Amino acid sequence: MTVLIEQPQLEVEAREIPRETNELVLDGGFAMPKLESHGGFEAPEINSFGHSFRDYDAESERQKTVEEFYRQNHISQTYDFVKKMREKYGKLDKLEMSIWECCELLNEVVDDSDPDLDEPQIEHLLQTAEAIRKDYPNEDWLHLTALIHDLGKVLLLPSFGGLPQWAVVGDTFPLGCAFDESIVHHKYFKGNPDTYNPVYNTKNGVYEEGCGLDNVVMSWGHDDYMYLVAKENGTTLPSAALFIIRYHSFYPLHRAGAYTHLMTEEDKENLKWLKIFNKYDLYSKSKVRIDVEKVKPYYLSLIDKYFPAKLKW
Ligand SMILES: [Fe+2]
Ligand SMILES: [Fe+2]
Repeated sequence: MTVLIEQPQLEVEAREIPRETNELVLDGGFAMPKLESHGGFEAPEINSFGHSFRDYDAESERQKTVEEFYRQNHISQTYDFVKKMREKYGKLDKLEMSIWECCELLNEVVDDSDPDLDEPQIEHLLQTAEAIRKDYPNEDWLHLTALIHDLGKVLLLPSFGGLPQWAVVGDTFPLGCAFDESIVHHKYFKGNPDTYNPVYNTKNGVYEEGCGLDNVVMSWGHDDYMYLVAKENGTTLPSAALFIIRYHSFYPLHRAGAYTHLMTEEDKENLKWLKIFNKYDLYSKSKVRIDVEKVKPYYLSLIDKYFPAKLKW
């Protein structure tokens, strides 16, 4: 379901998206009022065009959709499920294509969890990348990371198995150890069999303190898939880039500070870059249009620098 929301341009650009631990936010940072607000739900404002741009029914309908999304996500993402998905998709036997070809392919994906994305996905990628490039002109690896961070959403396409939304987008979290309270809609883990498995339901679970996040099984989605693709195809991007790709939806870590006991010193260093990146990922959903053809040569040169011409997917 796509809810189109009319917004004056300035408001969108200036909008800050606060990210509290229990806030409803689907991938990419679209913030929603809480469903069970304790008197805190405020009727939508009249916008500067003089008419209401979010009627209550549409908003509450959307909240239900998001809540149902996380219910399914939390009961279905188990340690076993992720192991199976990593094995299946880790074969990289779907097709061969370049990074840019994948950017174009992603345009076919309609992320119906995200009403802010009424423009092509490639524009979201390039908006994020260009915004970072402006502020960090020398970190070319970060520009490319921004361009590719959401490419794993091709998992939604029939040619990639047509995975359901709950297995592609949304906040991510570790499996194989206890579900931290800071995970959005934590209550739905009551329906997850791992909650009752004594091997998985302690603070460290199957892990050891300081084992490093790379050794931690994360809930399956576009983040982990793109990480596998980049790594297995031998990217020369630095470890901070791979860290951003794999953990950019890991909000319990970068907003709530959960699971830091599993991190190495290198993880902690990389987390600094992830926090920088995330600001841009959230803010980039503006109506600033990008001239794709104009910036394409620059990004093609970065792809050439850090990736083989064709990648296995
Ligand atoms: Fe994104
Ligand atoms: Fe993402």
